[in-house]
Amino acid sequence: MISIENIKKCSQILFTVVLLLTIAFISFLVYRGIKSNDLEYTQTHELINVTKRPKIVLLLWTWPLRYSFPLNRCPPEFDASDCLYTIDRDMYSSAHAVIIHHRNISTSKTLLPQIPRPPNQFWIWSNMESPSNSLNLVFLDNLINLTMSYRVDSDIPTPYGWLVSKNQDSKKYIIPKKSKLVAWMVSNWKKNSRRVKYYEDLKNYLNIDVFGKYHKPLSRTDYMKNISTYKFYLSFENSIHEDYITEKFWNNAFVSGAVPIVLGPPRKNYERFAPPESFIHVDDFNTTKELASYILDLDKNYQKYQQYFVWKSKYEVSHRGSFMLQYCKVCRALKEAPGYRTIPSIAEWFK
Ligand SMILES: *[C@@H]1O[C@H](CO)[C@@H](O)[C@H](O)[C@H]1NC(C)=O
Ligand SMILES: *[C@@H]1O[C@H](CO)[C@@H](O)[C@H](O)[C@H]1NC(C)=O
Ligand SMILES: *[C@@H]1O[C@H](CO)[C@@H](O)[C@H](O)[C@H]1NC(C)=O
Ligand SMILES: *[C@@H]1O[C@H](CO)[C@@H](O)[C@H](O)[C@H]1NC(C)=O
Ligand SMILES: *[C@@H]1O[C@H](CO)[C@@H](O)[C@H](O)[C@H]1NC(C)=O
Repeated sequence: MISIENIKKCSQILFTVVLLLTIAFISFLVYRGIKSNDLEYTQTHELINVTKRPKIVLLLWTWPLRYSFPLNRCPPEFDASDCLYTIDRDMYSSAHAVIIHHRNISTSKTLLPQIPRPPNQFWIWSNMESPSNSLNLVFLDNLINLTMSYRVDSDIPTPYGWLVSKNQDSKKYIIPKKSKLVAWMVSNWKKNSRRVKYYEDLKNYLNIDVFGKYHKPLSRTDYMKNISTYKFYLSFENSIHEDYITEKFWNNAFVSGAVPIVLGPPRKNYERFAPPESFIHVDDFNTTKELASYILDLDKNYQKYQQYFVWKSKYEVSHRGSFMLQYCKVCRALKEAPGYRTIPSIAEWFK
């Protein structure tokens, strides 16, 4: 039964189909257009310029910890335009280097690449945890070619922070207004750790405000402002190792504008990174009580306290320590790396 009504319906459907086909065809032409130009999408959907296609492929075996970030966005000073960073394991066999983040493989050796390793491929070991918090380093025996860690003697050093000379025209540093004495932010609370014991002793002599998981809550957004109202900050590391000087020092104290009281590697090690008169080291005192009376003395003597900020007229903190920028360093390091290099034991070196 062919009614006018049905013919109308049919032609409507036909029209819709033709319209959709046309749209699909135009999209295809546009896509071809892009491809025939010199741009192309990589498998990670980064638009790359084919005429200057990167020669060196760097595979991130996993994202580091829980962080992901845009790839192939390294600032020009990293000289990384001839490297292609990818997270796509299908590119393993053509990768010149594989970046392995320790934490993400440390629970089982099977988390390392299991497929046969192309000859001359570099494996780069990346780690920001201290040896005390790095499990199963022996998994890496005779596998790694280059190291990347906070340790200054790594092939690719990635410290938690460092100082840079200030610009001539940058603003004069002003010490934040102070109303309180000592702050400490800590979540990893271990009763028998050296830092907790030190704190338990120190708090007998000084007023210390403790923030974190088992203490006063402090919001992620304004903790820096909050800490800046304290004269001192306890930059107590969770374990004591060479060069292991973390954001507790760089960010929580230096950047916020509280004077760091440090517990970590020896004073000489800190002085590798920061001026001697920019921090107070617990080892400078024979007893906790002695440290406490020094702090109380500084609390009464603002002239003397200010001396801890003199360095701020010359230097500022650079803590561009993001994983993205750390990984940006790999490209140049690889171009400068010796043709052959292998590390028999990361465990031996890193301990
Ligand atoms: C791709 O790179 C080449 C060579 O550097 C340059 O001449 C060209 O303009 C670039 N094309 C696009 C679309 O960026
Ligand atoms: C890497 O390790 C961290 C910490 O163990 C974990 O939270 C994360 O999910 C891991 N990421 C990948 C990609 O395996
Ligand atoms: C800092 O945090 C404490 C505890 O949560 C709060 O009492 C205080 O008001 C905060 N100070 C500033 C300046 O935000
Ligand atoms: C620490 O003890 C040594 C030796 O007993 C002493 O010479 C030194 O003055 C003491 N340090 C301080 C800061 O009192
Ligand atoms: C990296 O180390 C492995 C394992 O020792 C070795 O087989 C490989 O040749 C090394 N690659 C380079 C480029 O040094």
